[in-house]
Amino acid sequence: MTRLPFSDIGGFKFPIDVPEDQARQGLNYVAHPEDVFLCSYPKCGSTWMVQIVLKLLASSNNEDSQKLDSNTLQFLEQGVIPATGPVVVKSHFPFNVQPSNPHNKYIVVLRNAKDACVSYYFHKKLIPQYSETFKTYTMQDHIQAFLDGDLTRGSYFDWVLSWWAQKDNLNIKFFLYEDMKTKPKEAIVDVAKFLGLEDVAEDETLVNSVLEYTSFSALKGPINAWMKQSAEARTKKAYDGEFTFLRKGEIGDYKNHFTAEENEAYNKFIAEKFGGTGLEHLWDSYDVVEM
Ligand code: A3P
Repeated sequence: MTRLPFSDIGGFKFPIDVPEDQARQGLNYVAHPEDVFLCSYPKCGSTWMVQIVLKLLASSNNEDSQKLDSNTLQFLEQGVIPATGPVVVKSHFPFNVQPSNPHNKYIVVLRNAKDACVSYYFHKKLIPQYSETFKTYTMQDHIQAFLDGDLTRGSYFDWVLSWWAQKDNLNIKFFLYEDMKTKPKEAIVDVAKFLGLEDVAEDETLVNSVLEYTSFSALKGPINAWMKQSAEARTKKAYDGEFTFLRKGEIGDYKNHFTAEENEAYNKFIAEKFGGTGLEHLWDSYDVVEM
């Protein structure tokens, strides 16, 4: 079975396209008390949440739109650019690796394991550094590796458990990708309230503009172009074709890729790992995890 290579830096399985100095900068980041962290296991909707938060902050400051550049779209794994004030930072670190400050706010986005797994496969396939691996790495290899936690960023299941253990911490708020898809307006209002942006939360016009700005169809073009450009700058390589970071944005895409046996194995594993924590029932109203 083929596996995705990774770089073990500071006990975390970094992707091989992240330079070590940037990885260490991220691990050693000293958080500003007002930084806001958007945390998720990869492919669970963190970039979408970043856009919601940036647009909410811009709306609260009466700005028409926010800039899409490396100062506004910071990514902890790739080393945060030092700023004098608070920043909005995306992070894929588990809680035990996450540099934290008791004053920070953390928004954690969870997505069902099966869709996260499929999305992760297609994401990795985009990265030229993995093209050798993908000569033999199949979706079936990936489905097993994801279950074993034998891939970049380690185990999805341990990642989710590490953050869920903090669920009573008032500075940490959880969102489900599936809820964001089915009830986006409610999610946007909840994020605004959590950040103390009552002015926006109570303004229907502003909420609607955030909703429109952060829809899949509105974000797809600019985010994919931005991701391609930043990946090219980081790796100093030109990328062919479209960089489909925002790919399908659907609930249940795993049904197009999992066999009945793989689906069964995931249900069993989820019941074992999450059983008794409450996590096992988070997706009860979606047709994605059968307990
Ligand atoms: P798919 O590959 O299933 O399309 P992350 O930013 O954490 O890496 O997550 C990426 C996933 O979130 C991708 O999933 C992407 O399409 C999805 N996504 C991003 N913005 C979205 C939006 N506005 N609506 C629905 N899904 C979105």
